[in-house]
Amino acid sequence: MWRGLIEQYRDRLPVTDKTPVITLHEGNTPLVPAPVLSDRTGCDVYLKVEGANPTGSFKDRGMTVAVSTAVEHGAKAIICASTGNTSASAAAYAARAGITCAVLVPQGKIALGKLAQALVHGAKLLQVSGNFDDCLAMAGKLSQDYPVALVNSVNIDRLHGQKTAAFEIVEALGDAPDIHCMPVGNAGNISAYWLGYTEDVAAGNATKTPKLYGFQAAGSAPIVNGAVVPNPSTIATAIRIGNPASWTKALDARDASGGLIDAVTDREILSAYRLLAREVGVFVELGSAASVAGLLQASAAGKVPHGSRIVCTVTGHGLKDPEWAISTAPAPTTIGNDPLAAARELGLA
Ligand code: F0G
Repeated sequence: MWRGLIEQYRDRLPVTDKTPVITLHEGNTPLVPAPVLSDRTGCDVYLKVEGANPTGSFKDRGMTVAVSTAVEHGAKAIICASTGNTSASAAAYAARAGITCAVLVPQGKIALGKLAQALVHGAKLLQVSGNFDDCLAMAGKLSQDYPVALVNSVNIDRLHGQKTAAFEIVEALGDAPDIHCMPVGNAGNISAYWLGYTEDVAAGNATKTPKLYGFQAAGSAPIVNGAVVPNPSTIATAIRIGNPASWTKALDARDASGGLIDAVTDREILSAYRLLAREVGVFVELGSAASVAGLLQASAAGKVPHGSRIVCTVTGHGLKDPEWAISTAPAPTTIGNDPLAAARELGLA
C-alpha cells in the first residue's frame, strides 16, 4: 500500500525516526500519456497530474514534509501566504496534525474552491488588501516575530517534499525526460524539480537531467522581464506573482539544465486549458495549463526537437476554480421532464 511520500522516500528527505509523519498519502500521482499533444509537437508527451494529490495540487508534497518537521520542532501553529493552493494544503495538513493554521491571501484574487478548502479545514483566513508578494512579506515577518512556523516554499523542507515528483517520473519512465515543462509562480516548484532530478543523477537512478522549461503568465513575468512586476495580472491567479521568492534558484535551474523561462499570454493559457479538458480529458486549473501553453509555444518556435520525451506538470485540479470553468464553457440547456424534448435537444429526434 502507498503510505505517502515520507514513507516512500524517507532516506532522501530531511526526516528522522523521531519525525511524526503527518500525511494524507500524497504523491504517487498518474503520469498520463497525452497523444493529442504528442501529435501536435512530434514528441512523446506525458502529463504529471498533480491535481490527483489529496487537496488537488502539488503543494501536498511539500506540505507533508514541512508540517511534519514543524510539529517535530514543537510548532503549535503554521502560517503561509498563498494564491490559494498552498493555503488549501496547509489548512488540510494542519487539521490532520491538530495544530492551528493561519493564511494570508490577496483579497478577491483566489479561486473559489481554494477559499472553500481553507475555510472548511478550519484555517484562520485573512484576506489582505494587497497582492501575493505583500502577503508573503507579511507572513515572513509574523513568523519572525511570533511563535508560528512559515510553510511557504522559502521553507526548504517544502522543496524536498516537492522534489519527489521528479523521483516518480524517473521511476515511471526509466530515466529523466528530455524536457520538463511547468508553470512558474513563486518559483519553488521548478527549484524543487531541479533538486530532485540532480539528486536522481547523483544516486545513479537517472543518466541525465531534463532541460527545465518554465512558464510565467505574461502579465506576471518578473523572471522573463528581469524586473519585479509591482502589479502582476493574469487570469491564472495561482501564478499571479510579481516578485518570486525563489527567483535565483529558478535561474540556476534554468541555466544548469540548459532550459528556458518564457512568458505565455492569458489567451495561450486559456486555449491550453480548453484543449486539455476537451481533447485530453484532463481538467486542470488555469495556472496549470501554463505548462502546456508553454510547450505548444516553444514547439511552434522550434525550441522542442522532434522525438523528444517531454513531461508537463499540470499542477492543480480544474475543480479548484468552478466559477471560471462554468463561465468559459458552453451554457447548459434547460428542458422539461420530457424524453422527446431531450431527444430533440440532443439531435436524436
Ligand atoms: N501552479 C499552481 C496551481 C500553483 O498554485 C502554483 C503556486 C504554481 C503553479 C507555481 O508554483 O510558486 O512553486 O512556482 N501557487 C502558490 C500558492 C504560490 O500560494 O498556492 P511555484
